[in-house]
Amino acid sequence: MDYSKKLFVLLLSCMTLIFNYNNIYSVSAAASVVGLNYGLLGNNLPSPSDVIKFYKSQNVVKIRIFEPNKDILEALRGNREIGVIVGIKNEDLKALAANKDAVKTWFATNIDPYVSEVNITFITVGNQAIPGDENGPYVFPVMQSLTNIVKSRNLPILISTTITTTSLAALKPPSAAVLTPLARKQLFPVLKLLSLSSTPILVNIYPYYFYVADPKNVPLEYANFNTDKVVVKDGSLSYTNMFDAIFDGFLWAMEKEEVRNVPLVVSETGWPSAGNGDKTTPALQYTYNGNFVKHVASGKGTPKRPNSRIDGYIFETYNENQKPDGIYQHFGLFDPTA
Ligand SMILES: *[C@@H]1O[C@H](CO)[C@@H](O)[C@H](O)[C@H]1NC(C)=O
Repeated sequence: MDYSKKLFVLLLSCMTLIFNYNNIYSVSAAASVVGLNYGLLGNNLPSPSDVIKFYKSQNVVKIRIFEPNKDILEALRGNREIGVIVGIKNEDLKALAANKDAVKTWFATNIDPYVSEVNITFITVGNQAIPGDENGPYVFPVMQSLTNIVKSRNLPILISTTITTTSLAALKPPSAAVLTPLARKQLFPVLKLLSLSSTPILVNIYPYYFYVADPKNVPLEYANFNTDKVVVKDGSLSYTNMFDAIFDGFLWAMEKEEVRNVPLVVSETGWPSAGNGDKTTPALQYTYNGNFVKHVASGKGTPKRPNSRIDGYIFETYNENQKPDGIYQHFGLFDPTA
């Protein structure tokens, strides 16, 4: 059986596990062990309606798309069991931040036609635009305008953004984590806005990059959840995997900004199956993603947030052949050419 099929079998078995042993989750929550990212930068991808059919057949009930693509949103009509995070592309932020009417028009064009029939859970303003000089400054004003729109319309759509966590140290205690000066400046108003309604911030967490940056010192098993050994000790908290350490590091970094009530959603995590020699194989990708699914299904949470359910999305559904060469084309669970 190929690895992507194996992963879905694992996903389904984890759902059964939760159905059987944990009656605190409702049926729909139980099915949503993890979500999947769905990117479009390939010239050989299945049609959106086939992709949505596939998700339904596999009980995938949470997806994330990077732009308000009409074909995908049309295919989602009536399928309200699938929650969808809709992104706004970084290059669109500047024009939207220029005036409130631009945001109103964007919303009327891209979201309004679907709100009654598509389960839009989040609109994310930019992807890793913060921290960044180019688009980072536009995130907050656009979030503010969109927050006002959904509030005035009483829509259950959360407005947030996604950020990178690659500035957090890989093997240092999570409690030592701090935001970089630019991240602090750009993120602080965003976090304050989110904290007013306890809306989550979305974070992209990739132990892969820390591992390949320093493979001599970073144990592979720590990066891919394949050990029970404590690798990082942080006061009374013990870390056996880097995912938890990065997750908790971000919580610590927020606490240092006096932000305590903003939950984290993991908008991306994953491992490439090719592009960097023996560090990127289908088996390693399956190990990481499979262990991530099991970790989420276990309900263990992280050392700093024990017994809390991690809300996370695997990056990504398909390999995308129009991305830059190398690993970037190989994060998919499926290769459309295979
Ligand atoms: C919408 O999606 C969310 C996230 O998957 C889910 O919790 C919720 O139950 C869905 N709503 C409906 C009406 O199915």
